[in-house]
Amino acid sequence: MHSFKGRVAVITGAGSGFGREFARIAARLEMKVVLADIQADALEETREELAKDGTPVIAQQVDVASGEQIAALAAATIKAFGSVHLVFNNAGVGSGGLVWENSVRDWEWVLGVNLWGVIHGVRTFVPLMLEAARREKDYAGHIVNTSSMAGLLNAPNMGIYNVSKHAVVSLTETLYQDLRLIEAPIGASVLCPYFVPTGITESRRNAPSTLAGEQQTAAQRVGQVLSKKAVSSGKVSAVDVAERTFEAVQGDEFYIFSHPHALGNVETRMQDIIQMRVPSDPFAARPDVRDSLRASLRAEESK
Ligand SMILES: NC(=O)c1ccc[n+]([C@@H]2O[C@H](COP(=O)([O-])OP(=O)(O)OC[C@H]3O[C@@H](n4cnc5c(N)ncnc54)[C@H](O)[C@@H]3O)[C@@H](O)[C@H]2O)c1
Repeated sequence: MHSFKGRVAVITGAGSGFGREFARIAARLEMKVVLADIQADALEETREELAKDGTPVIAQQVDVASGEQIAALAAATIKAFGSVHLVFNNAGVGSGGLVWENSVRDWEWVLGVNLWGVIHGVRTFVPLMLEAARREKDYAGHIVNTSSMAGLLNAPNMGIYNVSKHAVVSLTETLYQDLRLIEAPIGASVLCPYFVPTGITESRRNAPSTLAGEQQTAAQRVGQVLSKKAVSSGKVSAVDVAERTFEAVQGDEFYIFSHPHALGNVETRMQDIIQMRVPSDPFAARPDVRDSLRASLRAEESK
């Protein structure tokens, strides 16, 4: 997708973090913008900011885990702007814990947002984009699915998140191949950020009421403290990631990384597979981090 002006962008998770920055850039590029988020006040802040500067914008409160709500978002998009060109399936939530301790509700919540949100986005918007491609001369579309470096690596104590993000990489690679198979004028990219300061470590603010009464496990509490530390000390900003993402869309790049130097760990994982080794120690370079994680788990469990 080489030009953005006048085209229609849909962004989920637009109330915060990467989603809000995607919205700001889309507005700067004079796109028509559709914002979606589960958190009404944050969504309204983004909408107001864009509308103030004269951007054609609509906002809809949506739980991306719901196919019906994504269908309603698509209907609102077509009603307001008549077409769709650029879709960011970006809404997501963080989650930690030892993989056998996570409750069914945890699995359902995180897979619902991080995986089903992307599935619904793809199965709802791609047919509309294909239809627009048949109708509009010089149509160009693009889909960006937000995964994570956790979609390519499997750090301990964050199993549900890893599973959800690996599935998004798989879905997006397949989407790319399917679009090429039918020679559609639609590109696809998968965004794999590492630690970037956003609201991700406070994801429970938007957890469903079914989780409200559920005590976090010791491992989840430890995971949250550690991920807060890692995310808040991230040097790459959400603005940097959003700018890199738009560049990648324009250049039709598939894999988008915030921290390309971390790809050495992906290479090690691939070598583990090819050489049929057991998975390498993720803390090989920083055994002190593993030791302090173990110590924190023991201390938290004995509370
Ligand atoms: N920040 C990081 O370090 C990092 C790293 C890798 C991947 N990611 C991914 O980036 C994406 C964006 O997260 P972020 O870091 O900007 O965090 P964020 O919390 O700042 O933004 C996420 C947005 O998604 C919304 N949301 C949550 N549940 C939703 C639901 N059910 N339906 C609709 N919207 C919902 C939230 O209200 C929030 O506005 C996520 O998919 C996340 O997994 C973030």
